Amino acid sequence: MALRVLLIMLTIQTWSLSEPIAGPYDVFIDQVGECPQGLVDPFFPVKIRLVRNRHNHNDMFAFANYTIIERLDDSSSMRLEFGSWSSGGGWKENAFIMKFQRLCSTLHNLAPRTVQALERSLSNSKNVSPVTCPWNPDTYQITNFSTLEIKSNVPAVFYGKWRINLIIFNSKTQTAIACCRVYARTTPKIPLVKTSN
Ligand SMILES: *[C@@H]1O[C@H](CO)[C@@H](O)[C@H](O)[C@H]1NC(C)=O
Ligand SMILES: *[C@@H]1O[C@H](CO)[C@@H](O)[C@H](O)[C@H]1NC(C)=O
Repeated sequence: MALRVLLIMLTIQTWSLSEPIAGPYDVFIDQVGECPQGLVDPFFPVKIRLVRNRHNHNDMFAFANYTIIERLDDSSSMRLEFGSWSSGGGWKENAFIMKFQRLCSTLHNLAPRTVQALERSLSNSKNVSPVTCPWNPDTYQITNFSTLEIKSNVPAVFYGKWRINLIIFNSKTQTAIACCRVYARTTPKIPLVKTSN
């Protein structure tokens, strides 16, 4: 009996050693786009252009234009719907969903570096930059935001290939104010190697 348990534990351990399913991670963005028609109502139009960094194929520079007609602040909430890529092919919708209240505070707590880089790349219709959260109704332009800036304080996640619907809501009316769709991969974190000469 004890041997059987030990064998099972060994099997689980070798399996998780060769193929961990979750843990410390790196995030790579493959594509960012508008949410498809019908995903949120009203449709949220956003023009996005991604330019690959020729010196680092994991990095892309994002350029975007969009207009928000409602203020985004701590009364707004955010929902991340994760579709996961299944080994058999195809997307499994809503593999999991993360919901956050208090948009600006959550962004600053969960992904401070990302939101600061985003704010630096952001300008409003009067060409004021950076524009910090909360964001008033206006037309915004994102210029040259590096996707490698996308990092979070969440210590461990599941590894895989994801299609994420990032939706920002008015908490009171539950109507969508903004939406975008991000294709990303999470892979086991490669520690920074110190080189010594
Ligand atoms: C955003 O708008 C500016 C000014 O009209 C334009 O030059 C730029 O190409 C647009 N960017 C995208 C990604 O559509
Ligand atoms: C975007 O940023 C990168 C690195 O900071 C820089 O090399 C590149 O010239 C910038 N591109 C534009 C269009 O500003």
